[in-house]
Amino acid sequence: MKKTLVTGGAGFLGSHLCDKLIERGDDVLCIDNFFTGSKENISHLIGHKSFELMRHDVTFPLYVEVERIFNLACPASPIHYRHDPVQTTKTSVHGAINMLGLAKRTKARILQASTSEVYGDPDVHPQPESYWGRVNTIGIRSCYDEGKRCAETLFFDYYRQHQLEIKVMRIFNTYGPRMHPNDGRVVSNFIVQALKGENITIYGDGQQTRSFCYVDDLIDGMVTFMDSAADFTGPVNIGNPGEFTMLELAENVLHLVGGKSKLSFHDLPQDDPKQRQPDIALAKSALNWEPKVCLKDGLKETVSYFRKTLKLG
Ligand SMILES: NC(=O)c1ccc[n+]([C@@H]2O[C@H](COP(=O)([O-])OP(=O)(O)OC[C@H]3O[C@@H](n4cnc5c(N)ncnc54)[C@H](O)[C@@H]3O)[C@@H](O)[C@H]2O)c1
Repeated sequence: MKKTLVTGGAGFLGSHLCDKLIERGDDVLCIDNFFTGSKENISHLIGHKSFELMRHDVTFPLYVEVERIFNLACPASPIHYRHDPVQTTKTSVHGAINMLGLAKRTKARILQASTSEVYGDPDVHPQPESYWGRVNTIGIRSCYDEGKRCAETLFFDYYRQHQLEIKVMRIFNTYGPRMHPNDGRVVSNFIVQALKGENITIYGDGQQTRSFCYVDDLIDGMVTFMDSAADFTGPVNIGNPGEFTMLELAENVLHLVGGKSKLSFHDLPQDDPKQRQPDIALAKSALNWEPKVCLKDGLKETVSYFRKTLKLG
């Protein structure tokens, strides 16, 4: 039974990860400060003999005995990470230092939930791991993008300096049940607006593209990566390369939800990337991983989750 720590375990991805780890027999310690996470996400695990929940902020050191660390703690949506940008950078940077320190002391293997945002507004498309990115250091998204970039640097410095077993995973847009309904992310936005019969907000002309990975595929990739050979550090992109414009996504959602919502067009926010698509050749060859769930099936699950939890439609 592996003693596994999940930071940010009460969040969207973290709670699905806890489910998966419990299911395969790990002994899971979930820590969270509940900034964006919620107890509802993990309430079904409370009382399970292999699950423990601790309120803790990763910007403070943590002294526990573990063999594996999944470091997911960090607000992930612009609304949340811009709410307190200084705290966002602290969570990424101090959080990484604290968790790497814990990994060093306990000789635990550690995985960092990094992000496609390290590529910024890319001028290479799709983005392979070798691309260094095009990131604004002083913009309103920088607290997140640069915090995550610095965390990656720390992971590789601990690897070189202290021979830690590290895994750096660059996560692309992921969606599914337990996303926050009001965090401004495009999939949850569109679904909630459609379920409420409100107009769908499109920024710019809606031709900017995103790729969307269903949460089950993402978690599968995360666990496979953690279990991969010790010398495979990444960084590795995990995401779904299927590319959709915002207009196509809106059409898919409207088709599933029905109703009378119309599209309403607004100015593009600052630093909003125009294109984002993972190159997943490395994940395929090194991890034998690729996503399996198509957008339509994933959206169906997500719509029914929001219908149930928001009691709409
Ligand atoms: N969901 C995506 O599409 C996506 C894409 C790229 C990267 N990521 C990364 O994956 C991770 C999880 O994202 P998510 O979508 O589940 O977001 P989320 O906001 O649902 O989860 C983050 C969790 O971290 C917790 N947290 C925040 N600050 C903390 C702190 N200082 N100490 C302890 N806990 C703290 C929150 O309460 C929450 O439970 C994040 O690191 C995010 O950057 C997610």
